[in-house]
Amino acid sequence: PPSNLEQMIHEQNANLEVFAREIITIATPTPEELTAQNKHLKNCRAICKRVCPEGELVPFGSLVTGFAITKSDLDAILTSPYSEDLFSIPDEDDESNSLPHNLAKEFQAEGFEVTLLLRTRVPIMKLALKATDENSFDLNCDIGFNNDLGVHNTRMLQTYSRCDPRVKEMVLFIKWWAKKRHINSTYRGTLSSYGYVLMIIHFLINVVDPPVLINLQNILIPEDVPPDQIFDEDGEGEHQIWYAKDIENLPKTTNQMHIGQLLHSFFEYYSYRFQWGREVISIRTQGGILSKQEKGWVAAVTRPGRSGHTQVKDRYLFTIEDPFETSHNVGRTCNASGVDRIRTEFKRAVNVIRIRDGGNSMRELLCQE
Ligand code: CTP
Ligand code: MG
Repeated sequence: PPSNLEQMIHEQNANLEVFAREIITIATPTPEELTAQNKHLKNCRAICKRVCPEGELVPFGSLVTGFAITKSDLDAILTSPYSEDLFSIPDEDDESNSLPHNLAKEFQAEGFEVTLLLRTRVPIMKLALKATDENSFDLNCDIGFNNDLGVHNTRMLQTYSRCDPRVKEMVLFIKWWAKKRHINSTYRGTLSSYGYVLMIIHFLINVVDPPVLINLQNILIPEDVPPDQIFDEDGEGEHQIWYAKDIENLPKTTNQMHIGQLLHSFFEYYSYRFQWGREVISIRTQGGILSKQEKGWVAAVTRPGRSGHTQVKDRYLFTIEDPFETSHNVGRTCNASGVDRIRTEFKRAVNVIRIRDGGNSMRELLCQE
């Protein structure tokens, strides 16, 4: 017979499961919202074509992975097969005649609110458009320039999501929780949604037993794969971009846990087992963990950014290795107080889940704004 303790944990997980299902339903964008986003995308694509006929506006991020929660931004990049130099961010002198500036003018003329962030690690143009009669949903869109790693990692996240429905369910819940608890803001010293997704994938491959996911980057590369599909160069270095895509032939998981159990265990792992000060999450690596020491990710450094005159600060307080661009710490946006707040939130979640009042406090407090 189950002990009292087991019985108690069973109840906590069952309550969390019911609550999580409710949140996931609320968080999932309606078909109308998704249709509206696609309409926005088409419109933006047409405007880009006018300024840059050879360019292609390619969506990535949550709209493509299916990890979008309601009111998500739209992420896209403008790529071009030949005119590399068109996209390079020129010197300050003739900046006003660059492609980003010409695009900005065109979008402004169409009524968009436009912000150019050309000094960031990845230069982007932010677009905002209020809902109208034609499209009853607001648009918030980030357009990047010729940086297609985001497209590759988006496809891998999408592949992981296709492996098991619990991936998307956990992502939607955790994104909702992180947004409500204000620990999902790269501008305010905490972590991107992408970072939370990598935390979840690490947990599902390497922590939970038996695993829910198989490491798709750690399978023997078949011999008939051409080299350009294994490695990719972006001028800053070489990235291994191969991962297993024919998931139908992979063994199925034997893990039967429901998302109440998985979420409880996820919160516990990052509260009490993960060593924030010493460990690096690395989903491409067997076991999923590297040390900060072996990556040389110890002291913060300031280095020149992609576009010459910018400065990028690399922090290593919370470290998540990008699965393709392995020199990039996805957690670099986290400052000291941000990491503290994130860790405090994980512990708070565990405490709230464990309150013994039939899940009432959990329902009220866990995702409280
Ligand atoms: N990305 C990246 N490196 C980062 C952050 C993001 O490559 N440090 C890329 C990833 O391809 C990711 C995409 O940008 O899928 C979008 O990131 P983000 O906006 O954080 O995630 P979304 O899933 O789009 O979440 P949200 O709904 O909060 O916008
Ligand atoms: Mg996004």
